[in-house]
Amino acid sequence: MTEIHRGLAGVNVDTSQICSIDGERGELIYRGYDIRELADQASFEEVVHLLWFGELPTRSELDALRDGLRPAFDLPGEVLDLLARTPKGTAPMHALRTAVSALAAFDDDADDTSEANLRRVGTSLLGKIPAIVAAYQRLQAGQEPVAPDPNLGVAANFLRMVNGEEPSDAATRVMDVALVLHAEHGSNASTFVARATASSLTDPYSAITAAIGSLKGPLHGGANYGVMQALESIGDLAGVEPYVHGKLAEEGGRVMGFGHRVYRVMDPRATILKGVSERLAQESGDAKWFEMSLEMERVMDAAMEAKGKQVKPNVDFFSASVYRMLGFAKETYTPIFALSRTAGWMAHLFEQYADNRLMRPRLVYEGAKGKTFTPVDQRG
Ligand SMILES: CC(C)(COP(=O)(O)OP(=O)(O)OC[C@H]1O[C@@H](n2cnc3c(N)ncnc32)[C@H](O)[C@@H]1OP(=O)(O)O)[C@@H](O)C(=O)NCCC(=O)NCCS
Repeated sequence: MTEIHRGLAGVNVDTSQICSIDGERGELIYRGYDIRELADQASFEEVVHLLWFGELPTRSELDALRDGLRPAFDLPGEVLDLLARTPKGTAPMHALRTAVSALAAFDDDADDTSEANLRRVGTSLLGKIPAIVAAYQRLQAGQEPVAPDPNLGVAANFLRMVNGEEPSDAATRVMDVALVLHAEHGSNASTFVARATASSLTDPYSAITAAIGSLKGPLHGGANYGVMQALESIGDLAGVEPYVHGKLAEEGGRVMGFGHRVYRVMDPRATILKGVSERLAQESGDAKWFEMSLEMERVMDAAMEAKGKQVKPNVDFFSASVYRMLGFAKETYTPIFALSRTAGWMAHLFEQYADNRLMRPRLVYEGAKGKTFTPVDQRG
């Protein structure tokens, strides 16, 4: 019997030094550090250094990384034009994927996969992807893009480029925490796609473009958009229970923001974001989205327990209410995931290019056999 691993479940394709996940204990570790400690204390840039170089940066290493990032937020004028000419209503993930692909045309060394060049491309994308997401949101709303402030880090710069004003320290910190939590997650679908793409020794822009396409799907990063879409369509607390039961009664019905291939208990990132969401609800006086989320968690818990299944909130569930309270349109939620996950994608590309083997799995053929060719005019 040929063994088939649908969805590559349980398949180890390689070794990695970057991230470990214990799905039974709800543990997520970046290069030896527990995600709870990093979310509590680290900036996104410190986490980028950790993921890319294996260690938290010294003060001077962090300054060097920030210096490298300063010019990276600037976009080629042609890419801004492309975003401006993208038809109104085009989903931001389509625009982002297209713009990142276009960036390769403005890089003379796009195909150089040496370690030094990959690090240069990674730093460039770490600034350019948030700049694209912010510029596109403004252009679609009929506003001019806001030039980046080279003195700000990724979280503050992104908020400023979206809103056109200096972000508060509190908002910047929440953004930083969200970026830290989304930065890396092992061999998830988009990271696997990035590594598989790079394994043909094509360029890193192709790999990141492919990863963005994968992240966009509703079973992956697109779920945070799906969560807010569901909450908005439900409208109020009383509507949550009938909505969940209705979804579960559908053939293959999925409640977005729940379930995970690896975690059997609550995703530790969801636990952290739940706390952030609760605090923002208290501070803003707008508890609606948090309370509806809590109710959805309660109803899902009861329904899944009754079925004997372990389907708990994942990272996308509470990030939806957090982003809502930070003032983002739901169309921007998945692009925010992408700008953060660029850190993890690039860390994996460094590993992949450094010790590559072409990824080439097989499919077990079950189609027709032994047919003979009939010329077109003789086919019935
Ligand atoms: C993430 C996800 C794709 C994982 O998929 P998977 O590992 O292939 O697991 P399955 O889809 O086979 O689900 C296992 C069981 O749990 C149930 N389940 C999993 N997630 C569910 C959800 N969100 N809503 C309802 N039921 C769910 C399935 O019905 C399935 O039941 P079955 O065994 O009786 O068929 C899946 O949980 C999902 O679709 N979640 C919603 C999308 C989402 O939030 N994605 C973001 C992930 S970070």
